Amino acid sequence: MSHQHVTVVEVGPRDGLQNEAAILSADVKVAFVDALSAAGLPVIEATAFVSPKAIPQLADGEDVFRRIAKRPGVRYPVLVPNEKGLDRALAAGVREIAVFTAASETFNRRNINASIDESFARFAPVLARAKTAGMRVRGYVSCAFGCPYEGSIAPEAVGRVAGRLVEIGCDEVSVGDTIGIGVPTQVPEVVGRTVEAGVPIDRLALHFHDTRGTALANVAEGLREGVRIFDSSAGGLGGCPYAPGAAGNVATEDLLWMLDGMGYETGVDLAAVAGASRVLSAAIGRRPVSRVFQALDAAAAKRPV
Ligand code: HMG
Ligand code: MG
Repeated sequence: MSHQHVTVVEVGPRDGLQNEAAILSADVKVAFVDALSAAGLPVIEATAFVSPKAIPQLADGEDVFRRIAKRPGVRYPVLVPNEKGLDRALAAGVREIAVFTAASETFNRRNINASIDESFARFAPVLARAKTAGMRVRGYVSCAFGCPYEGSIAPEAVGRVAGRLVEIGCDEVSVGDTIGIGVPTQVPEVVGRTVEAGVPIDRLALHFHDTRGTALANVAEGLREGVRIFDSSAGGLGGCPYAPGAAGNVATEDLLWMLDGMGYETGVDLAAVAGASRVLSAAIGRRPVSRVFQALDAAAAKRPV
């Protein structure tokens, strides 16, 4: 991979849809993932095999995963919290999983009912079995830039958790600003402590949410630090079901526009991603929040933005 290549990890079908108030049909989800595959995205997080009580939006994960068209060369990871999730993934023919923990004890307790140590105890058998099955495993560190319960989070705490994920066998670590609270000046320290803790820079992803409008600025800072893997969701899908209009992950279209303009190549067709967002926005009855999506739409209609 050249220094100018960036891998865009599409998380809309998982991180986006888990936060949408509407529960969509499997048909819509399959059409969405298939449109994202056709856009040339190299990695698409397809769904989650978590408790359907925790995330009813993704309760049909098996059905969706089995039915999506698996484009050769494209990876389709699914989120797995425990051995039960791994059993489901293996039965569905999943080749890649993502486990998730946090840099904040309180958030972890609320999200997966486990302390950080307990989450690692849960992951040990998951990793062992996944590796035996030849799966690739990503590990997420949530609340790396701040926590809704604990406030600020020390970059050293992020590094410790990220380093442990690599130690237990994760092939890649995604460091996440779960609640979209981070600013660019935090990025060098968070990346620095994570790399010092043993996560090679080429196995580190950054995962920004755009809740407060800082996601692209944070991506730009991540690029300066040498990170070349970024997570995003088509249309900027997601947000909070209880806060209409609140932003979700950084929008894939906005990320692609910025990367292309800065001279990075991704192999992804921006217009086709916007087409996938259109498929989904018709189903949820809401216009994508992506600014680039809106600009393209206005250009197509020959309206000023
Ligand atoms: P628990 O209640 O402590 O676990 O939940 P449990 O083992 O006692 O199970 C409770 C019930 O759930 C049982 O069913 C289990 O069978 C069932 P019951 O006997 O009550 O009928 N269950 C499952 N069902 C299906 N699939 C499974 C599964 N596991 C248990 N895998 C647990 C603990 C982790 C399961 C739960 O809290 C959970 O599923 N949490 C998921 C929460 C979640 O998905 N959050 C969003 C993803 S994280 C995120 O978005 C951040 C990220 O984007 C990065 C960032 O932004 O920073 C990744
Ligand atoms: Mg997220």
